[in-house]
Amino acid sequence: MQILSRTHTPADCSETIVCHCLGISESTVADAVAVCGLATVKEVCRETGAGSGCTACHARLREMLRKANQTVPVC
Ligand code: FES
Repeated sequence: MQILSRTHTPADCSETIVCHCLGISESTVADAVAVCGLATVKEVCRETGAGSGCTACHARLREMLRKANQTVPVC
């Protein structure tokens, strides 16, 4: 919750919130994954705070990580 929390405030108006406990948006998580190269929910928790409450959002965070870290096959 270090670097990105300075540029993204919880519950920026039109953002889709992925972690309701902490008010962390999907774009904050997506940016953290892309910029910091996050690969696990634990890393997302550490960098953004998302997922460090009730854990109900962990499935959504895992899905975001899976999509972000998919490799594009080279033909
Ligand atoms: S909704 Fe993310 S920790 Fe509760």
